[in-house]
Amino acid sequence: MQATKHAESDPESNGADAHGTDAHGTSAPGTSDTASDAQYDFMVVSNRLPVDRCSPDEPGCEDGWRRSPGGLVTALAPMMTKTDGAWVGWHGAPDEHVQPFSHGGIDLVPVQLSTHDIEFFYEGFSNSTLWPLYHDVIAPPEFHRTWWDSYRKVNRRFADAVIHHANPGATVWVQDYQLQLVPKMLREARPDLKIGFFNHIPFPPPEIFAQLPWRRAIIDGLLGADLVGFQRPSDAGNFMRSARRFLGASVKQQQIHVKGADGKTTHIARAQAFPISIDVKQISELARNPEIVERSRQIRRDLGSPKTILLGVDRLDYTKGIRHRLKAYEELLADGKVSVEDATLIQVASPSRERVEHYRLLREEVEGTVGHINGTYDTMQNTAVRYLHHSYPIEEMVALYLAADVMLVTALRDGMNLVAKEYVTARTNNDGALVLSEFAGAADQLKQALLMNPHDIDGLKDTIMKAVNMQPAEAARRMRSMRKQILDHDVDLWSSDFLSTLEEKVIRDDS
Ligand code: F6P
Repeated sequence: MQATKHAESDPESNGADAHGTDAHGTSAPGTSDTASDAQYDFMVVSNRLPVDRCSPDEPGCEDGWRRSPGGLVTALAPMMTKTDGAWVGWHGAPDEHVQPFSHGGIDLVPVQLSTHDIEFFYEGFSNSTLWPLYHDVIAPPEFHRTWWDSYRKVNRRFADAVIHHANPGATVWVQDYQLQLVPKMLREARPDLKIGFFNHIPFPPPEIFAQLPWRRAIIDGLLGADLVGFQRPSDAGNFMRSARRFLGASVKQQQIHVKGADGKTTHIARAQAFPISIDVKQISELARNPEIVERSRQIRRDLGSPKTILLGVDRLDYTKGIRHRLKAYEELLADGKVSVEDATLIQVASPSRERVEHYRLLREEVEGTVGHINGTYDTMQNTAVRYLHHSYPIEEMVALYLAADVMLVTALRDGMNLVAKEYVTARTNNDGALVLSEFAGAADQLKQALLMNPHDIDGLKDTIMKAVNMQPAEAARRMRSMRKQILDHDVDLWSSDFLSTLEEKVIRDDS
């Protein structure tokens, strides 16, 4: 898709206010300026912008901003740099007003969140109501009217930013569960827009979704889109069943007839699965980079050159099954099936949502368990679990993927899990084994992984041992097939599939 941007002059603005400034009115160093009234033909909207603030001494910090980690950013950044569009989102600093600016070739339109918004909209409704509700209620969701009120208000703010910056007929792609009301707000104000929405996390079955006091408003909000995308066909199916059950919508072959207040059909929304993927080129190149290959060898040496390195890489989130993984590994050590002399488990747990109670408790529990395992099984030379509560740049992640003989992805529920896809892509020699939860969306595509149910601890232990002892020929056969799947379906294909389906759909509806 070709998009253009038109910077309009703003007679009201003076030099300082119209450009990249922070709360104190100082220019964000190294960012190129973008007029705050610029109009775009293509806009991506997500809770977070693909950057956050940093101080110059922090690793990866350039010009006061750093590309933020995470699946969504990994997925969309390559496409945003290729397309002349803009990204609307929160810049990561509470209470700080930042004017639109450009970083790394992407025009960014910051949306401000106050400390109150972060507590009620982000930590509250998004991550203590929707997140657990959409992940099989692994933790109990909390329902508070004050949080819902904040969710509506913040969604309105995001929608207003788009309404202000979108050219007539622009394509707008709204991302994820934090912004489910935005599609309808856009349609009401700007029926000229082509509106897509993609849900990165699972969509729950109607039997669970039913608990949400605002279930009708959420479905109604999503149905403002022309195209609603999900990770798996089962998520799209759950959404359509909820639309039928809670709004009485007529649903036929992925088409949902959306009615206005007068009962007449306003438009037809389409619900469909578009499994997200990764930037295959980036990971493959890094995996072949001699410095990164050497770094992976160094990691093995630093661990005392064990025969087997097992690896887990997750945000520290209760949906990821880290406790189940540690339990299985501890039992394998106790059973004598693995020993600290022969094997080390590296667990990277990147800090996440640290002010939310369930996340605080999880951290305590995981760190307590790791301490217990290491206290019991470590020797002076060897450690059972190397636990790292950090985020790492992608270069170090690829070195870890190359060092790991066995990758453990034991999510209890996961929209996709891009770590699984990154590991497979990094294994350019077709060696290594992926243990993958059948509850991660990636299991739909990576059928040659060692699939397992993480709730079944004995099954998980058996699968880990199968991975540890896998013969090279079988490992290569499985890895080759998984690599082919991912190499044929990278993130560019994901975004172009979604956007071309959106374009076609809108053209068909109009004709
Ligand atoms: O998986 C959903 C998601 O929102 C990702 O887009 C993001 O990388 C991750 O969860 C963490 O999100 P946050 O730190 O913004 O809560």
